[in-house]
This record gives sequence, C-alpha cells and structure tokens, in this order.
Amino acid sequence: MDKFVIEGGKPLQGEIKISGSKNAALPLMAAALLADGKTTLHNIPALHDILTFNNVMRVTGARVEFDPESETLSIDPDTIYYPESPYDLVRKMRASFYMLGALLGRSGFARVSLPGGCAWGPRPVDLHIEGMKAFGAHISLEEGYVVAKVPQGSGGLPGGSFKLSPSSVGATVNLLLATVKGRARAEIRNAAKEPDVVQLCSFLKQMGAQIEGIGTSTLHVQGVPHLKGITFHNAPDRIETGTFMILGAMHPESRLTLTNIAAGDLGMFPGWFQKTGAELQLSGNAMQIIAPEVIQPVSVITEIYPGFPTDLQAQWATLMTQAEGESQVTDTIYPDRFSYIPELVRLGAQVKVRNNSAIINGKTPLSGTSVMSTDLRASVSLVMAALCAKGRSEVLRVYHLDRGYAKLEEKLNKVGAGITRINAEDQLS
Ligand code: UD1
Repeated sequence: MDKFVIEGGKPLQGEIKISGSKNAALPLMAAALLADGKTTLHNIPALHDILTFNNVMRVTGARVEFDPESETLSIDPDTIYYPESPYDLVRKMRASFYMLGALLGRSGFARVSLPGGCAWGPRPVDLHIEGMKAFGAHISLEEGYVVAKVPQGSGGLPGGSFKLSPSSVGATVNLLLATVKGRARAEIRNAAKEPDVVQLCSFLKQMGAQIEGIGTSTLHVQGVPHLKGITFHNAPDRIETGTFMILGAMHPESRLTLTNIAAGDLGMFPGWFQKTGAELQLSGNAMQIIAPEVIQPVSVITEIYPGFPTDLQAQWATLMTQAEGESQVTDTIYPDRFSYIPELVRLGAQVKVRNNSAIINGKTPLSGTSVMSTDLRASVSLVMAALCAKGRSEVLRVYHLDRGYAKLEEKLNKVGAGITRINAEDQLS
C-alpha cells in the first residue's frame, strides 16, 4: 500500500484548482443508465471511486468510456442486459448501491449486493429499501443481495408517499432513480437538499424527467416513459474546496487561492470558517484564503445541508488543534466518525472523545511521526496535521485518499508542501 512521507511546517502559497465533485458525479453516472442513448459527463475526476463505479456499470453490459486526461466520461446504457451488481465491487464503495434504483428504474428488476460495514460505524440502507417498498417495489433479501422488482404486469412502480427519517442523501438519490422513469407518482418527504441532490434533479430534468420541489425537502416525481442521454458538466467538489480552505488557514503565512469553485454550494460553512479569524475573498469562481495570525477556537455540530458537513468535521478538528483555546466538534450524522483522533493525538494533539463529540484543547505543537489512515476524510486530516507538524511524518494507507482527492500531493506540492509518495513496490525493495 502506498504511503506519504511529509516534511511539515511549511506555509502554502499559490493556486489550487478544485476538481469535479465525486459525490455529485456518482448519482449522475447512475442516472445515465436510465437514458435511451449515450450521456457524456465533463469534469469527472479520475478517482478510484469513479473507476470502481465505472466497473460496476460495465458489469451490467453498459458501454462506459472514461478519458482521465479530459476528465470526460461517456455512458451508453443501450447495451445493458444484466441488471445486477456483485458484492466484490459494491463492498469497495457503498455508493454502488445507487445501482438498485437505477436498474430497477431501467429494467424493472435489480439484484444488488448489500454494501456491508464501514469504518465510521453502522451505515444502514433501510430507508432506501423501505422507500422503494412504499413506492410499490417487491423487495426480498437473498444471500446478502437485495432483489427488487416492479409488480408483475404493472408496467412500472405505482408510486406513493414516503418520509425519510432521518433525511438521507443516498436514499433520496436511490428513490429518484427508481421513480423518474416509468409511471410512478411519487412524493419524497424530508428529502436531502444537498447540492449533489439538486444537481441530480437538474440533470434528470434535462434528460426529460418531471420533478417538482427541487432544492426543497419535498420532491414530487411524475414518471415519464423515456429519458434521453445528454451532455452535462459536473459541479466542483465542495468538500475538496472546504478541505483546502481549512488547510489554507493552518499556517499564519499561508495564502491559497482556490480556483474552479462553486461558492454557492458551501452552505453556511464560510461563516464558521471566518469565525476562526481566517479571511476569504471571493472573485468569480476563485477564492483567496488569508490565514489568521491567531486561530480562534470555533465549536461546530454537523448537520444536513446547509449546516456544517460531516465530511469536513475531521479536517475542522485538525484545524482546531492549532486554535488558541478549547473547542468541540460534534457529529450528529455519523456519531462514530472519530477513528482519526488517536492518530492526531500521536502527532501531539490534545483531544478527548466523549460520546459523539471531540473536545480539543489548543494550541498544541504537532511533531512528525507515523500515522495510519482509516477512511477518506480522516486520511486527508492526517495529511493536513502532518503538513503542520514539525519534522517528518509518514501517512500510511493513502489508498483512502486516492478514492476521493484527485492528485492531492501534486496539487499541494505545487503550493509549497513537501509530500513524497512511496509506492508499495518501493517499500518492499
Ligand atoms: C453521503 C456522502 C457522504 C456524506 C453523507 C452525509 C456520497 C457518496 N456520500 O453518504 O460522503 O458523509 O452523505 O452528508 O455522496 N441513514 C439511515 N438509513 C438509511 C440511510 C441513511 O438511517 O437507509 C442515516 C445515516 O446513518 C446517517 C444519515 O442517515 O446518519 C445520513 O446519511 P446519508 O445522507 O444517507 O449518507 P450517504 O448518502 O450514505
């Protein structure tokens, strides 16, 4: 497994281009399977999760071509003949479960492996399944697989009304995928309002879907018999943007400019960010970050959009180790998502975890050592802490990073970081 060797303590100065959003791209890719004809997606980052989903789609017979240079993906679903997704691929990435809605919507039948466990604790898919049942799907669990069918002779899901509790991005996506094609009249209540869902709705509408209430918590779908393949430009990654904003605030001499951003997708995050004393200046789709001399402690509680994103809580806790005073990071969405804390402590942070909160006492100097990544956002946080630490660190198991951060070391080295990737073969020789 590849690792990073990081020389810490250097300010970061210069420009970083934000890549296309992974979490926004995956629903578009699944939705493309509903079309008659080919869809072309631009601004699709060359990440492991995208490559995994490409393979998940190929298993069905769909023709999928990806050019990592131009970040262009084309999906032709007209050749689909096998509406199934095997465990070997689904276990690599939970979002593969979007295949359930996509295949049910396209073929009236889907057999998709249950995703299994996750490093952040339980991540159920009960709402995906209950919602589809509420809309008329016949669902059974067979040997670790979910088998979903439209009622026999019905010509599609009839629809109905379903309330998501709690609100869920994944379940909202899956329920949209299952209902937009066909004859369903479906109401999704307490639907997710995340920009990734809003983008999916706009995409589906351009394909010919009928959806009302986009961007609100109640979505009304009227199924249509045909959806057409289209060309679409995927949004910039709001979590990568937030990650680099936080990183840009960690060293007093850092001055980062982030380009290709969508500030409107950041929800209320910039408000918390500015409370730390960091400055941000927006100019079109670019944002300049000016690090504060002294970082103020700012406590946050994760919430659904536009609240503080759970996908930025580990990065925030890392920033708070450098703030003057005590702060608290509470995760209400994924209460067990604190596996990175013992690693931060090994770098010198003072953090205690109580229930679903991390209590951080800053400012503590960090000093280089070896740390182990446990999941995607935890990994980037350890890289951030290592960049701030005195001396040399090793971040092990960076394959987590490759799932969700495009060209991370290349982007960061360009602005002054000292990151070397040691690949697995070199470690053996
Ligand atoms: C997506 C993101 C993930 C992000 C999360 C929350 C993708 C690929 N992943 O994950 O990066 O951290 O949103 O913003 O876009 N829940 C249930 N039953 C279900 C489904 C969800 O109880 O069937 C709960 C979860 O345990 C969690 C909450 O709902 O507490 C929100 O989860 P959800 O929005 O579904 O997250 P994902 O879509 O899996």
